[in-house]
Amino acid sequence: MIWIFYTTLLGFIFINSTANPVKNVLSLINRDGAERRLLDENLPEDTFVNISNYLFKNGYPFEKHHFTTEDGYILEMHRIPNTKANVAKNQTIPRILFVPPLMCSSIDWVSNGPNGSLALLSFDLGYDVWLLNHRGTRYSMSHIIYNNTEEAFWNFSFHEKGYYDLAASVDYVLNYTESKKLTMVSYSEGTAAAMALATTRLEYNEKIELMVLLSPIGYMGGVSSIVPVLTATFLPILQEFTKAIHLYGVPYNEEVSKLIISVCAYNDDMKKTCSILLGLFLGYDPEQIDLVSTINGT
Ligand SMILES: *[C@@H]1O[C@H](CO)[C@@H](O)[C@H](O)[C@H]1NC(C)=O
Ligand SMILES: *[C@@H]1O[C@H](CO)[C@@H](O)[C@H](O)[C@H]1NC(C)=O
Ligand SMILES: *[C@@H]1O[C@H](CO)[C@@H](O)[C@H](O)[C@H]1NC(C)=O
Ligand SMILES: *[C@@H]1O[C@H](CO)[C@@H](O)[C@H](O)[C@H]1NC(C)=O
Ligand SMILES: *[C@@H]1O[C@H](CO)[C@@H](O)[C@H](O)[C@H]1NC(C)=O
Ligand SMILES: *[C@@H]1O[C@H](CO)[C@@H](O)[C@H](O)[C@H]1NC(C)=O
Repeated sequence: MIWIFYTTLLGFIFINSTANPVKNVLSLINRDGAERRLLDENLPEDTFVNISNYLFKNGYPFEKHHFTTEDGYILEMHRIPNTKANVAKNQTIPRILFVPPLMCSSIDWVSNGPNGSLALLSFDLGYDVWLLNHRGTRYSMSHIIYNNTEEAFWNFSFHEKGYYDLAASVDYVLNYTESKKLTMVSYSEGTAAAMALATTRLEYNEKIELMVLLSPIGYMGGVSSIVPVLTATFLPILQEFTKAIHLYGVPYNEEVSKLIISVCAYNDDMKKTCSILLGLFLGYDPEQIDLVSTINGT
């Protein structure tokens, strides 16, 4: 919800300046039906592909799994099942559970394609690959009691993602595959969740063979990106504001997502504009951004 506030603010700033990327964006958004279709046709082929279609297209298998956490969230996990594996018959098949970063989902572990995605390379090496979708993300938007528009649905942080979602997914994978241990690979917010699990539920350390933390986050002391800093500074005001308009979280919306992607993938200028906007959240480092990869993420 907070990003809507900042995007709007930035929108006004850019609109009133002369070098005007936002005007380009708005002129794209304002097109109607026929023109929009034309716009979409100019986008790279895989722009709107979803994870299962993308995997099938690239020759990988795909499975969908559902399970419920102790506190009632219904999670959808995706699997790239490796049952034969490249391992000897009498060896146990190694399992990997991939834990995504903030606001991301299973597809972000495969969207760099067969030769550039850790999950697909792991599958090629013989691993049985499981991709978690945390509560409140694209595929895990349900709860046994709460509606995802309610305040109680969004009452969680990385701690609950670790304590409940990770615990439930580890148990699910081990039970389903009749295995004793798995490897966990997490990224960014996922690492904070993984550490929350490992430190609050010590018995899970027995179930995890190896824990890999990519861009690990232990504390948020050194963040300098403008959006997180401003958010932290004005948090009480923002909370009042979002409460007043009953906006507790942002459920995934296919149409909004497609619109953002079609605008951002439109051409090189738009890609750069979007990467600058993203940089305000994540820290801007153009050399680390792959502008070629345009697959529908998160
Ligand atoms: C992807 O889209 C297809 C329809 O093209 C649908 O059948 C499938 O369930 C979708 N995959 C996921 C993971 O939602
Ligand atoms: C697996 O089987 C091969 C021969 O069939 C044997 O040499 C090897 O020791 C076995 N490995 C294990 C871990 O049991
Ligand atoms: C991946 O790499 C292999 C060999 O390194 C190559 O044959 C294949 O075409 C590559 N696939 C893609 C999608 O780039
Ligand atoms: C959730 O709330 C929205 C808006 O209040 C409503 O349209 C929708 O039907 C509700 N869904 C469920 C499952 O109760
Ligand atoms: C959020 O969860 C905490 C406990 O984790 C509870 O004390 C609080 O009442 C909850 N708030 C809402 C709005 O559900
Ligand atoms: C464990 O797996 C079996 C078979 O896959 C399933 O029937 C059972 O419900 C699972 N148990 C739990 C607690 O998920």
